[in-house]
Amino acid sequence: IHPAAAAAPDRHDSKKAKIISLKLPLASSPKLMSTPKRPPHIIFILTDDQGFNDIGYHSRDIRSPTLDKLASEGVLLENYYVQPLCTPSRSQLITGRYQIHTGLQHSIIRPRQPSCLPRDVVTLPQRLQEAGYSTHMVGKWHLGFYRKDCLPTRRGFHTYFGSLTGSVDYYTYGSCDGKSLCGFDLHEGESVAWGKGGKYSTHLYTQRVRKILATHDSTSQPLFIFLSLQAVHTPLKPPKEYIYPYRRMGNVPRRKYAAMVSIVDEAVRNITYALRKYGFYRNSVVIFSTDNGAQPLTGGSNWPLRGCKGTYWEGGIRGVGFVHSPLIRHRRRVSRALIHITDWYPTLIGLAGGNVSQHQGLDGFDVWPTIKLERNSTPRTSKMRAKRN
Ligand SMILES: *[C@@H]1O[C@H](CO)[C@@H](O)[C@H](O)[C@H]1NC(C)=O
Ligand SMILES: *[C@@H]1O[C@H](CO)[C@@H](O)[C@H](O)[C@H]1NC(C)=O
Repeated sequence: IHPAAAAAPDRHDSKKAKIISLKLPLASSPKLMSTPKRPPHIIFILTDDQGFNDIGYHSRDIRSPTLDKLASEGVLLENYYVQPLCTPSRSQLITGRYQIHTGLQHSIIRPRQPSCLPRDVVTLPQRLQEAGYSTHMVGKWHLGFYRKDCLPTRRGFHTYFGSLTGSVDYYTYGSCDGKSLCGFDLHEGESVAWGKGGKYSTHLYTQRVRKILATHDSTSQPLFIFLSLQAVHTPLKPPKEYIYPYRRMGNVPRRKYAAMVSIVDEAVRNITYALRKYGFYRNSVVIFSTDNGAQPLTGGSNWPLRGCKGTYWEGGIRGVGFVHSPLIRHRRRVSRALIHITDWYPTLIGLAGGNVSQHQGLDGFDVWPTIKLERNSTPRTSKMRAKRN
């Protein structure tokens, strides 16, 4: 355990909580309590190939003060699992199902492959739209695009801005499948966003998120933003000024990789700032997650875990993640409950006011009670699985 995580104050003391609530009678006045709660704004930030040791609170050589702060003020998920690869992990997040149930268990979807998320599976953003949310996706899709009805805008997002394939260039948005097939992959809705490239993608995407927040009325409709960053996947090409603070690091790929993490950190700082500025923060849930473990050959690190991206060792599937929300009263905690990337689907539908038990075929569990009520127990037990099967 990193010292910062261990030092996070533990709020298991229920007496303390009682004293606090007695001292603040206004905060719990019956009138306020009976007001029906508006569903929270949900901001889901997914990074690409960020390993277990690639965040400040796990590693001394990475600077990510914003992420460290948000995690320490929120609920740090220290027993959190994802899939070892991009497409399978993303498919689980967006369907709440294991990839063996969606046919996406065979590695990633390559640009030439006529494959995508099965169109009869109702996605998380579709469910959130049903619950009244305005849904927006910014960044990497990687869930297929060979037909129009595979596109993010046909799979539950009101707006989309980003790249449909994996491994896109951070500045030119060129994407190649072998040497013979290259294309420009930056899309706005269902059209090619010609002329919008040129800027490093973490900055470009953050700017878009800011714009969504600036133009949406925080009181009229709940918002779901899925920011799916291209960072910190290869190529290792961060703008130079971000490498400078790491110039003494001997390992050159790691130096550039660390710089990319710092840019993600700055992006999250800017987004949090915008959440406050435009009135979203107080009724928001921010979730941060990686999609899979890191690839050490290109600067990432999963230490002390064995294995890497693409393997079912812990280094491939144990993810960094946290939840930050002013709506969680007992925050500033480290949760050791088993939580899995498929769990976000039912959890977020529950938060949105939906009835999860009406949806058949989900592999995930609603883990909000585990996150919110500081329970180390989780619905994920082998007994439950046996019952479902
Ligand atoms: C964050 O905001 C600052 C100030 O507007 C800007 O200079 C910087 O490029 C932004 N960073 C990212 C990653 O968006
Ligand atoms: C949720 O759905 C289930 C199954 O349809 C139903 O039995 C239950 O009463 C519903 N719960 C609420 C609170 O509506």
